[in-house]
Amino acid sequence: MSQVELDPVHFPMPRVQGCPFHPPQELRDIQSAGRPVRVQIWNGTKPWLITGHDRQRSLLTDERLSSDPTHPQFPFQSVGIEARRARTTTFIQMDNPEHNHYRRMLTGQFTAKRMEAMRESIQEITDRLLDELQELEGPVDLVEHFALPLPSLVICQMLGVPYESHELFQEASATLLSQSADRDQVDEATVVLRELARDLIAVKRGRDDDDIISHLVRDHLEQGELTEDQVVDMSLLLLVAGHETTANQIALGTLALLENPEQRDYLQTLTDRSDIARAVDEMMRFLSIAHVGRRRVALEDIQVDHDVVIRKGEGVIFPDAAGNWDPDVYERPDTLDLAREGAGRHMAFGFGTHQCLGQPLARVELQIAYTSLFARLPTLRLHGRASDLKFREDMNIYGVYALPVTW
Ligand code: HEM
Repeated sequence: MSQVELDPVHFPMPRVQGCPFHPPQELRDIQSAGRPVRVQIWNGTKPWLITGHDRQRSLLTDERLSSDPTHPQFPFQSVGIEARRARTTTFIQMDNPEHNHYRRMLTGQFTAKRMEAMRESIQEITDRLLDELQELEGPVDLVEHFALPLPSLVICQMLGVPYESHELFQEASATLLSQSADRDQVDEATVVLRELARDLIAVKRGRDDDDIISHLVRDHLEQGELTEDQVVDMSLLLLVAGHETTANQIALGTLALLENPEQRDYLQTLTDRSDIARAVDEMMRFLSIAHVGRRRVALEDIQVDHDVVIRKGEGVIFPDAAGNWDPDVYERPDTLDLAREGAGRHMAFGFGTHQCLGQPLARVELQIAYTSLFARLPTLRLHGRASDLKFREDMNIYGVYALPVTW
């Protein structure tokens, strides 16, 4: 069987200037061609790029593809992630059955029902931040004053992490998620975060607190089911994933609404929970912020097209937008349409066994954030021009570095 070798383009590709919401044109061209191709990544290796909604779905549930980064050709997102993954052992980088064993220790904490029960407290945090925002003289950076503190406060409350440490963990998380950070910077950030988690675990031992880290300590560490290092790593996975992703989705989503005023007006008319949920799903699909894609490695040869076989040991990348902007599934994918039927089929939270554990939480946060922001500040507008904004192309989670607004 012949392998198709095209000249490998570099991945991730740059976006077209002036189109910050659109996936890179080169990626869209590869998707239109409809065949898996090889790309070149930062370390010179040439993993496969899988596009198309249905093909991505089918391969993301294929157990012949592994998330285990100890395989030699695992296509890491960056040197920093490679350095970090080598030292941690959380379920995001395990295959089943181990993955399920550890993930189950946390699933009860993130059920949709439990997150619904948190609606009131998330609304309170949101209202408080908006009260403080309204006190400020504009222009104000919405990332600093709203998008970042909201999910940070919520995840701190859930994990039992004092919010006073937010600058420390936000800065360290940003280093871990940067594609340009080097090994030393990542090591330093990892030390900072691990110390924070270890100190917290020490405080929580022997106490009866009702937060997630306390639950891990009481139910699993003290029972000998987890080591302290494992509790540290799980806590940090939740802390990092729990604020950075949602923060970027809030900020970039707000910009998308400001740039699409008819969609913002439509959002402001919504009162039904399921309509608001659909609008948020469409924002997730449209923005696909985890833009460096899912990363896997083949455990066996896998035939993926009539003349394409992914060989055992080869790396595989699933870029979010190459599924979420598939015109065979989403009509006019480049249009933000908050009333879109079927928007919930997107894979912005991943797909398969590693599908985002925190998605019920992120959904509630986003539903509250967008609706409350525009209800409280109906005249919200960008201060300056969108073309002057700096976008996070160099980070594993896409977004905007700062969003100056006024109202
Ligand atoms: C807009 C917000 C979010 C986005 C776009 C997002 C995206 C993702 C994606 C794409 C994955 C799949 C990774 C893979 O397949 O390799 C994932 C996994 C994960 N996410 Fe999220 N996430 C968000 C919010 C959150 C929140 C709030 C938490 C909470 C604590 C969280 C915790 C996790 C965890 C623990 C995993 C690993 C799941 C596993 O391996 O079984 N995420 N997320």
